[in-house]
Amino acid sequence: MRYQSTNPARTNEVVAEVELGDADTFVAACRAARAAQPGWADVPAPVRGRAIGHAGRIVEANAPALAALVTAEVGKPYTEALGEVREIIDTCDFFLGEGRRLYGETVPSEMPDKQLFTFRNPVGVVAVVTAGNFPVAVPSWYLVPALLTGNTVVWKPAEYAAASALALYELFVSAGLPSGVLQVVLGDGAATFKGLSDALDAGLVDKVGFTGSTAVGTAIGELCGRHLQSPCLELGGKNPMVVTPSARLDLAVEGALFAGFGTAGQRCTSLGTVIVHESRHDEFVAAFGAAVAAAPVGDPTSDVLMGPLLDRKFADRFEEYLRWIAPHHTVSGSTAAGRITAQQPREGFVGDPAAGLYYHPTIVDGLRPEDELFRTETFGPIVGVCTYRSLDEAIALANAPGYGLSSAIYTTDPADVFAFRRGIGAGMVSVNNSTSGAEAHLPFGGNGRSGNGSRQSGRWVLDQFTRWQAVNWDYSGRLQKAQMDVAELTPDLDYRMG
Ligand code: UN1
Repeated sequence: MRYQSTNPARTNEVVAEVELGDADTFVAACRAARAAQPGWADVPAPVRGRAIGHAGRIVEANAPALAALVTAEVGKPYTEALGEVREIIDTCDFFLGEGRRLYGETVPSEMPDKQLFTFRNPVGVVAVVTAGNFPVAVPSWYLVPALLTGNTVVWKPAEYAAASALALYELFVSAGLPSGVLQVVLGDGAATFKGLSDALDAGLVDKVGFTGSTAVGTAIGELCGRHLQSPCLELGGKNPMVVTPSARLDLAVEGALFAGFGTAGQRCTSLGTVIVHESRHDEFVAAFGAAVAAAPVGDPTSDVLMGPLLDRKFADRFEEYLRWIAPHHTVSGSTAAGRITAQQPREGFVGDPAAGLYYHPTIVDGLRPEDELFRTETFGPIVGVCTYRSLDEAIALANAPGYGLSSAIYTTDPADVFAFRRGIGAGMVSVNNSTSGAEAHLPFGGNGRSGNGSRQSGRWVLDQFTRWQAVNWDYSGRLQKAQMDVAELTPDLDYRMG
């Protein structure tokens, strides 16, 4: 099946035309990855690390071209796209060194002439399915550690970001990866799911990594569970930002602007709801509304805060979310809500709004906990606002939607920070900073509707792509039984001072 990936900023411009595979294409790639895996695992880890280091250097040398392609294909402003490419380089830099660590331990035994050890073994074949909002950085969070630890990888990127994915694949393969070690397979969601299911049935996949919606993540979790596998799931978020009475409001507004409308609100870490203390509400909403109204929106090759939505299907879904705005809500942030058109213009728009999938950035004040807008992730440029009285209430509101990816608190009171950190269910907490923009070497991941507790990035992701093997080696020349043949020193437990 042919598929055209188009530029969302100029929808009549085709960025790439590709062939989508079917379920059997996916299975065949897994079979090839299975065949290549033992050989790759035999390559010493420091040598694999060097390959990852080379991949980082090659990506760095091609950063402007790769970023420009990301901008053209998913409409991410160019400076942000460059940041996304930087995130790949950071990930490669981190794992270059891990090739020379990948530590196991030596552990004392309870018996003489016996030694205990731990080793990290690769899991085997890793299937990775990623979204297109971070078409190159988020895939690298899987590819880099999975390859470094001796796994082979079959990667199914989002089809609407196919050109960016194929470019990243070529850049990585140029680092000297042997044939079959990394494969990219294009396909739609249904074919991929069937292919994944068939490959699991055939015993060809040992680990699944998925970044995308909570609904699809749930289905993948069920599928993997039937095979006694726990996937690495990085799902949606309804990321809260609490603004306390002591907050610096200028900082909170700046943070909310970037968190809510950077990447047109299409990060899994994008701001969902601002939970502002009632004493600061009016002031905050006025300043936030003014900042959003003044923010440059338009052509992502220009210096704008936000460009278009990623692809037609995201625009269609966003229109549905806008229907959740109810009479008890107050809307601000732009001259209208919905699509930016000649009839519904946006002041200061950069470029031609009719050319692309451009939407007004929208603030919806007066959210109530029972509102769909409060409870559900709305991937796109919309931010809710509600108020609270006590910090406990703010934390309860922040947790109420049941996601748990990112969160933020703006305060100058350390007691608030630690109470929030303790109470919030999110895997990531920002203090006086945006909910988005995690650094590439801290554990990244969520809880509840945001994931199954798996963590990517830094040394924490090693637990996704390796399994611990415990080795004991008895060289005493006899059978020493654990717990039974263990020496005991005799204590005097009745001893008391004086
Ligand atoms: C995502 O949207 O899937 O923390 C990832 C951030 C980025 C990654 C977002 N570094 O916002």
